[in-house]
Amino acid sequence: MGDQAKLSAGGADYDYPILKGSVGPDVIDIRKLYGQTGMFTFDPGFTSTASCESALTYIDGDEGVLLHRGYPIGQLAENSSFMEVSHLLLNGELPTKDELEKFEYTISRHTMLHEQLRQFYQGFRRDAHPMAIMCGVVGALSAFYHDSTDIADPEHRMISSHRLIAKMPTIAAAAYKYSVGQPMLYPDNNLSYTGNFLRMTFGVPAEEYEVIPEVEKAMDRIFILHADHEQNASTSTVRLAGSSGANPFACIAAGIACLWGPAHGGANEAALNMLKEIGTPDKIPHYIERAKDKNDPFRLMGFGHRVYKNYDPRATVMQSTVREVFDALKVDDPLFETALRLEEIALNDPYFVEKKLFPNVDFYSGIILSAIGFPTTMFTVLFALARTVGWVAQWNEMISDPGQKIGRPRQLYTGPTQRDYVPLDKR
Ligand code: CMC
Repeated sequence: MGDQAKLSAGGADYDYPILKGSVGPDVIDIRKLYGQTGMFTFDPGFTSTASCESALTYIDGDEGVLLHRGYPIGQLAENSSFMEVSHLLLNGELPTKDELEKFEYTISRHTMLHEQLRQFYQGFRRDAHPMAIMCGVVGALSAFYHDSTDIADPEHRMISSHRLIAKMPTIAAAAYKYSVGQPMLYPDNNLSYTGNFLRMTFGVPAEEYEVIPEVEKAMDRIFILHADHEQNASTSTVRLAGSSGANPFACIAAGIACLWGPAHGGANEAALNMLKEIGTPDKIPHYIERAKDKNDPFRLMGFGHRVYKNYDPRATVMQSTVREVFDALKVDDPLFETALRLEEIALNDPYFVEKKLFPNVDFYSGIILSAIGFPTTMFTVLFALARTVGWVAQWNEMISDPGQKIGRPRQLYTGPTQRDYVPLDKR
């Protein structure tokens, strides 16, 4: 028998198995706890709860480590492509040259949208937030692929996954085009996944669009950095939605909705807005004081993380990518200096040091995306585009787990106990 955790409760002792992963903290298997003790555990926010078993992504928050299928994010960002990482996440291994070519070809075969779906956009106000459009349009994909999707069939699941990865750039670019009143572009499968997205976003039918290789590389790297991040809020949302057997396109729409919030994917938009508000480095001390003030709701956006209690390794890559993009586009943005200075001041302030608050992936991404030409409202859309592969890989992993059950948390009830209905005229 392996290690056991002992629990004393209500005058009795119970043993629970301790399960070991390949790396990372052990977990206490409490699945029998309610049956044996009549008690639940209480962990709102899941700060101490492993919601599933997964072989996809590992994070060591104290050391600032992020691994996809064992490979460090820094190595993947430096040497691979988003398509390679997508293959890795979906299939478990980096592709061989032939496998990569086949994977890229397969994805390119699914980049177009059904023509009827394009009409869907017209229903949105033209000033609609593109994340609102993403939730709606990706959810609507479920109507196009419902009867044809048998989620118990691994091949159907893989086709749905390919469709989602392939269509997301087309959907995201169309959301942007709709907001600026330009015609939507069809995909050009001669281009790379990322080059195609850039063309559909910034190209116009009246002119040739030339993909700038440095920008394509930076964008691809940003996609790699966002591809997966273990059981974060939106991924857990996708898993929970999918646990009922729901249509995968609808599950991804649920993930997009969750990602939109400013505490999650919306932080990149909020971080750049914050940097704009701060403006020049001389204003930083005032905002640092506000961030520390318990009575002020202001927080340093792009700072802090539930899991990382060290520098987010994705932020390191982001920071070094800023200069590459500036050089390629021959632009500069004084907000980068403000961001560097803000980071330096915060990292030397006891409040941030003691609470282990470091820059996260969102701190520098907005500066890069803004230099490339994206409006702030598109930032979270790009996050959703890239995270789609993580969502579908996690969804696949969950459905193929023979022990998979519908996700159904319990609660600590603190409302009124049973009481009798009082007729309206007696209240
Ligand atoms: N600025 C100032 N104080 C902060 C910040 C911040 N950015 N983040 C956390 N704190 C303080 C917080 O007030 C709390 O203090 P105390 O213990 O005195 O009450 C302590 O640090 C712990 O914070 P928490 O909110 O309990 O921690 P959490 O794990 O629930 O929240 C977080 C993590 C990411 C939501 C939070 O750090 C935050 O709101 N950061 C800003 C938003 C942001 O950048 N989000 C992007 C996350 S990375 C991308 C993604 O996953 O989507």
